Amino acid sequence: PLPRPFTVPLPIPRVARRTAPGRYEVTQRPAKIAIIPGLATEVWGYDGTFPGPTFDLRRGEATTISVRNELSVPTSTHLHGGVNPPDSDGYPTDLVVPAGHAHEHGGHAAVLHQGAKDYHYPLEQRAATLWYHDHRMDFTAPQVWRGLAGFALVRDAEEDALPLPGGERELPLMICDRAFEEDGSFRYPAHHDSDYMEGVEGDVILVNGAPWPVAEVSATRHRLRLLNASNARRYRLRLTPGGHFVQVGSDAGLLAAPIAHDEITIAPGERFDVVVDFSAYRVGSTVTLVNTLAGGPAGSVMRFVVARRARDDSAVPRVLSRPPERTRAVATRTFDFRRSESAWTINGQPYRPGVPLARPRLGTSEIWRLTSDFHHPVHLHLAHFQVLARNGRAPAATDGGWKDTVDVRPYEVVDVLARFDGYRGRYMMHCHNLEHEDMAMMADFDVV
Ligand code: C2O
Ligand code: CU
Repeated sequence: PLPRPFTVPLPIPRVARRTAPGRYEVTQRPAKIAIIPGLATEVWGYDGTFPGPTFDLRRGEATTISVRNELSVPTSTHLHGGVNPPDSDGYPTDLVVPAGHAHEHGGHAAVLHQGAKDYHYPLEQRAATLWYHDHRMDFTAPQVWRGLAGFALVRDAEEDALPLPGGERELPLMICDRAFEEDGSFRYPAHHDSDYMEGVEGDVILVNGAPWPVAEVSATRHRLRLLNASNARRYRLRLTPGGHFVQVGSDAGLLAAPIAHDEITIAPGERFDVVVDFSAYRVGSTVTLVNTLAGGPAGSVMRFVVARRARDDSAVPRVLSRPPERTRAVATRTFDFRRSESAWTINGQPYRPGVPLARPRLGTSEIWRLTSDFHHPVHLHLAHFQVLARNGRAPAATDGGWKDTVDVRPYEVVDVLARFDGYRGRYMMHCHNLEHEDMAMMADFDVV
């Protein structure tokens, strides 16, 4: 009994409150929530919510987030896009075990924190749309599917000075698909079922945890922070009956200048920060966000109803920011993302924790050439990068800006220029198709 599309109001995740200056506390716990009207779904959520609370953070304000685990399984929390010391990066075997459960972790040398862990985020990084999610070794996909994901927005003075739409006209939109059982519970296949080598998709599209929601907007500019938090589904987003997304930011912050797109392909883990001007539509009309990569129910995402005229002081200036310059690469490395019989590998290797495939030097840039046999959204922890080329040609219009995740397509060769700034230590790269990640498509790199 799924709801009719565009009947459930769009929820906006609650903004987390500090418990002390520079400190937040969040508890991972099970909760029953209404996703499909009339049914209860058990989620594993940060503070029992799905999405988790939004952390509204500021550049230069070092922040500690204390994560308490009241689930029945270990967890590791990664701030995706964060430039953080290695012991706060959510390494897959750096686990918070539920208080009282002395969990062992099968085969992997794990660091175990009993009950809770403080994650320290220096936030010496540009304003950007970040997100956080579970990263437990071998179980990221089922644990994120159950709800362990939320937004973390970093703001700064450079962004504050811009007249971009804000307040109620700034909407974080977490898009993900899920499948449901008759009773409303999430349906996820038995773990590591080889029928799901390509990843798990659902037939219900959720935005901020609501199925195909609807939002009333005034006929003004709105800033939409689009996040694809799906395990495996990619979307090609368009507006019906037409219109542009004016992109102002990518994964790792504001672009130098806006770029207008008719459509945006967004792979798991990626973010697009866009402005849509609803004054281009008649008051009373509807604007539907559709996914042209799918037919049927997964072909719709959400709907806006242009409800009324209103004053609009916002603008999208021609110059948005001064992103960091590229610096010359000191090395080139190749990473091949490929399926072996039973696992997904990088350079022929299934993941081996503690065995780095590269040792870039702190403060340098390198060209990483990513090759693949399938769709692999490749994510680097710590390092932000720019896409230099796809198959030796200029990158796509939607590849602009500093990013942390790039959609590598079947048989493509994608060159990125990555900057290793911030901290020395152990980090990782992996495919952000979460089933591929759990099926070993990860590798460590050590920043030295
Ligand atoms: Cu969003 Cu290593 O992950
Ligand atoms: Cu993959």
